[in-house]
Amino acid sequence: MPLRKELLVKPCWFFFFSLFVFTFLFPSAIAQSRGKAQPWMNSKLSPDERASMVLKELTLDEKITLLHGTGMAGLSPMSPLAVNSNGGAGFVVGIPRLGIPGIQMSDAAYGVRMSGENGRYSTALPSDIAGAASWDLQGAWEYGALIGRELRAQGYNMSLGGGVNLTREPRNGRTFEYMGEDPILAGKMVGSAIKGLQAQHVLGDIKHYALNDQESGRNAVNVNLDQRAARESDLLAFEIGIQESDPAAVMCSYNRVNGDYACENKYLLTDVLKKDWKFKGFVLTDWGGAHSAAKASAAGLDHEEPGWIFYGDELKKEVESGNVPKAELDDHVHRILRAMFATGVIDDPPERSVVDVEGGFAVAQKIEESSIVLLKNEEAQLPLDVSKVHSIAVIGPHADVGMISGGGSAQVDPPGGNAILPPGKGQTRWLEPVWFPTSPLKSVRAKAAGATVQFDSGADPAAAAALAKTSDVAIIFAYQWESEGMDLPSLSLPEHQDDLIAKVAAANPHTVVVLETGGPVTMPWAGQVSAILEAWYAGSRGSDAVANILFGDVNPSGKLPVTFPRSEADLPHTTVVQPPRESVPNYMQHDVWKQIAAGLTPFQVTYDEGVKVGYKWYDAEKKPVLFPFGFGLSYTTFSYSNLRVTAGKNPHVAFTVTNTGNRGGCEVAEVYASLPAAAAEPPKRLVGWSKIQLKAGESKEVTIDVDQKYLSIFNVEQNAWQLIPGEYAFMVGGSSQSLPLKEVVNLN
Ligand code: BGC
Repeated sequence: MPLRKELLVKPCWFFFFSLFVFTFLFPSAIAQSRGKAQPWMNSKLSPDERASMVLKELTLDEKITLLHGTGMAGLSPMSPLAVNSNGGAGFVVGIPRLGIPGIQMSDAAYGVRMSGENGRYSTALPSDIAGAASWDLQGAWEYGALIGRELRAQGYNMSLGGGVNLTREPRNGRTFEYMGEDPILAGKMVGSAIKGLQAQHVLGDIKHYALNDQESGRNAVNVNLDQRAARESDLLAFEIGIQESDPAAVMCSYNRVNGDYACENKYLLTDVLKKDWKFKGFVLTDWGGAHSAAKASAAGLDHEEPGWIFYGDELKKEVESGNVPKAELDDHVHRILRAMFATGVIDDPPERSVVDVEGGFAVAQKIEESSIVLLKNEEAQLPLDVSKVHSIAVIGPHADVGMISGGGSAQVDPPGGNAILPPGKGQTRWLEPVWFPTSPLKSVRAKAAGATVQFDSGADPAAAAALAKTSDVAIIFAYQWESEGMDLPSLSLPEHQDDLIAKVAAANPHTVVVLETGGPVTMPWAGQVSAILEAWYAGSRGSDAVANILFGDVNPSGKLPVTFPRSEADLPHTTVVQPPRESVPNYMQHDVWKQIAAGLTPFQVTYDEGVKVGYKWYDAEKKPVLFPFGFGLSYTTFSYSNLRVTAGKNPHVAFTVTNTGNRGGCEVAEVYASLPAAAAEPPKRLVGWSKIQLKAGESKEVTIDVDQKYLSIFNVEQNAWQLIPGEYAFMVGGSSQSLPLKEVVNLN
């Protein structure tokens, strides 16, 4: 641009004039505009007041800007403004003239996603289901807090984590991203994680609302479930999570629910979420989950991601024509602004910094150590005694270099790339299993320095069995990979691992199996091995955590947040319903997003098991299971005594737990309740728990106040929770199938 001539001629004059303006006039003008013209920057005002003040200043175009993202290659058109994105899954342009920053969103289920391709680093925590297996609310808080800190360090101010869909269908490829099959456990744990995250001044979300319980045909499927069952199961997990954490956002899911897409479902978004639960945040679509403007807006959808197929020009036209009332539009905008003020992303924006790698390792390891579940331990096979074990065979695919992680939009990038791909091909790709560089072989060697530790991949089961035969102990690391975008073909371990385990177990009676899975698997060999550990997807420091459990430096204390069935024949549905051809988008076409937005032919999935999710199903149907919900062994033993239940609005349950073994440990003490017959509910439900630490021989009194809602049924006619008067049995113990204490009280 040519410089103006007069400025060239009179440079001195211009210099002094500018100095004067910038030194004296400008700062005071800025201060004035901050102090007076931007009164919403006063953090003493409530988030609602601040949001209302900003709202008044916005033009229609600015309002619309806040209601959609700026695009994603392949899934929607890109806005030139997307250049200001931080490289995450979503970016919303802010209103800089009013001091409102953009929203930088990143997937962050078990750590911050896309760090590798953005040249950054993230900690991979154990998968979310592992976090749930700890039953440790404080641990869940730390889980969320770590993710919040790393998001901020990488320049993000919003997380897309908080997955809490119930494990209604254990073959769901995203089971690892969720919190198990019980609504109270899942809701409390996700709530605590979101609280930890939002305490770092990051917008949190909870997803995928609702009933996105299978991946197959997720953009087309219509899920049928009656209202009472939905409110008492899948929706209850969201209700509790939202009540606990007041999340900034709820992500509506891809699927239809009882006829309408979740993202334009008035019952879900307005009647339940915004009215009954008094949710104050905003609803954003899953990526490409919007299907209309006026209908969705009226139903309660606030924000479209990743682009503006409906919530751009189309929404603007609908507002201008009066189809979408101005008050409705303003409510969408107000919710977003309010959430930004409430969470602190405006008062305390993220500052980029170096991620604390060692700190992350320590948190990941601690969480994994409290999440590993000891499923079997015959003749006290574990912990391994280094003074007695002289030779160890470490067996299993890639157990020399890494441990598997969960895929899809939850995927955290491993430092240096996938541990099993050849150099140069180490980048994370969609639908490709990623192994984290946390080596079981190395960790076992480090513990058993005096022993011979040899590795066999298990590719040839006969060779692995031969090595096992000549070793004191065989440890098999078996895995099952899961990812968004697919469901498991079955609950069996892939790659002939069942056969491998059976052959190794036949060769060595001291065979230990360590499972790296995202959820339940079947174990035809369970009776043949001496010990089984469920390590889930174990995170950045997984192998050290597993070794600490194997060798007894840490006493296991995780309990199953999901039932492990004996066989798939025992599940409510023996197969996952697959979409017919016409319900599958053509991914080869460049405008696949248009097909999805326009709506794919629905196909039906009917959850006629209703409220009987997980253990409630097996209990009601009297089906024996392999390992029950809430189950997990320790290297010590616990006894339960002295139960006292005091009736009242929130019944008070008190009992004593004693460590009857000879080493310290943690016990998850669980409280279940049976409702009166008139309630017509499954035999029992979890209503509370407490994780307690006990030294050898120590006893502790545990007290739990049971929330009345957890004892109630949902009355659809009254649209309210209702306590059915009558006799309630309270049962206490260490798993859903080991409940030595019982007391019946009358509640009304
Ligand atoms: C997933 C969401 C995710 C979003 C953005 C979708 O495919 O279902 O969980 O947050 O992508 O990556």
